[in-house]
Amino acid sequence: MPSLEISDLKALAKRRVPKMFFDYADSGAWTEGTYRANEADYHKIKLRQRVLVDMTNRSLASTMIGQKVSMPVALSPTGLTGMQHADGEMLAAQAAEEFGVPFTLSTMSICSIEDVASVTTKPFWFQLYVMKDRDFVRNLIERAKAAKCSALVLTLDLQILGQRHKDLRNGLSAPPKFTPKHIWQMATRPGWCLKMMKTQRRGFGNIVGHAKNVSDLSSLSAWTAEQFDPKLSWDDVAWIKQLWGGPLILKGILDPEDARMAAKTGADAIIVSNHGGRQLDGAASSISMLPRIVDAVGGDIEIHIDGGIRSGQDILKAVALGARGTYIGRPFLYGLGASGKTGVRLALDILRKELDITMALCGKRDILDVDRDILDSDAGQLPR
Ligand SMILES: Cc1cc2nc3c(=O)[nH]c(=O)nc-3n(C[C@H](O)[C@H](O)[C@H](O)COP(=O)(O)O)c2cc1C
Repeated sequence: MPSLEISDLKALAKRRVPKMFFDYADSGAWTEGTYRANEADYHKIKLRQRVLVDMTNRSLASTMIGQKVSMPVALSPTGLTGMQHADGEMLAAQAAEEFGVPFTLSTMSICSIEDVASVTTKPFWFQLYVMKDRDFVRNLIERAKAAKCSALVLTLDLQILGQRHKDLRNGLSAPPKFTPKHIWQMATRPGWCLKMMKTQRRGFGNIVGHAKNVSDLSSLSAWTAEQFDPKLSWDDVAWIKQLWGGPLILKGILDPEDARMAAKTGADAIIVSNHGGRQLDGAASSISMLPRIVDAVGGDIEIHIDGGIRSGQDILKAVALGARGTYIGRPFLYGLGASGKTGVRLALDILRKELDITMALCGKRDILDVDRDILDSDAGQLPR
């Protein structure tokens, strides 16, 4: 059966990836209400069907923070990606490069900054979590510079980890523990095991051997609680901006007031995001907040969005509501878990095809011409 939509890749990944890692991707905080709303709210937005307009020579090409993209989609930073598939970050970065969209490497990746740099030829983006150990933060920034990363994505909404029940119940860790439950979960996924046995990359590549006082990295929640800095402030953002000195994207803005503060920092873009529903359960979906944030700071800073994008239609709706760029987390992780690099390419292909055809059926030929005019303002539209 060919994979025609992102949900096909999700079903395949569920069969191929050990339960604890599949669940790590497919989970939100507490009741998972915000996780579900991120996806569901896209369906409330209706498109205008237009006819008898020239639909030839269509273009999805755009820019995000001035960098060329073949469509306005980047790969989100995701932790433990090398546990969805052996060497996952390296494979996903290659797929993104071939496709002409940005790949963002997480601080909490399995493959290191240097690993990804060694298998790519174009710059990728690096996502930074700020730890209490500022020397280590400085070290990460220097390594990202040395690897010629072309943007720093600073995540602001995870200084304290939201509780995800599935991870606690599954006893998630990297490398995985060897209890009977975990051995069973892996033994029933032999393809995953074989590939994992052929790689040495099974721990947190950016951290192990680089950070001081790493006492318990086997438990993600324990390490996050110990090391992430809950005092992170706007002053720290200024410090990081100055230290990095390159294009800076602030990730995890969901409130117009925070967006105004973010715009004042002189950063290049913000990502309207609730961390894919993995942090503050009960927060609004990111797409429902986008119009208010565009109204607040649309003229002052470039606006990107993530959370709940599962189709090309969703991408088009986000662009129509004012997002210059979008990001996908789970869609590429499902592709990766399903079939490695080919699966990530397939996820991107699916989204591109859906985006292209949807744009045409809305009567547009160029993604740069898409605005709120393509949305049906009477049919269940989200508030402006
Ligand atoms: C498995 C997983 C791990 C994640 N790890 C990180 C991370 O390390 N850093 C970060 O800034 N965001 C992380 N995120 C959040 C994503 O960057 C992004 O905000 C979110 O996945 C977007 O929602 P979507 O998955 O519905 O596309 C993670 C998300 C998932 C699903």
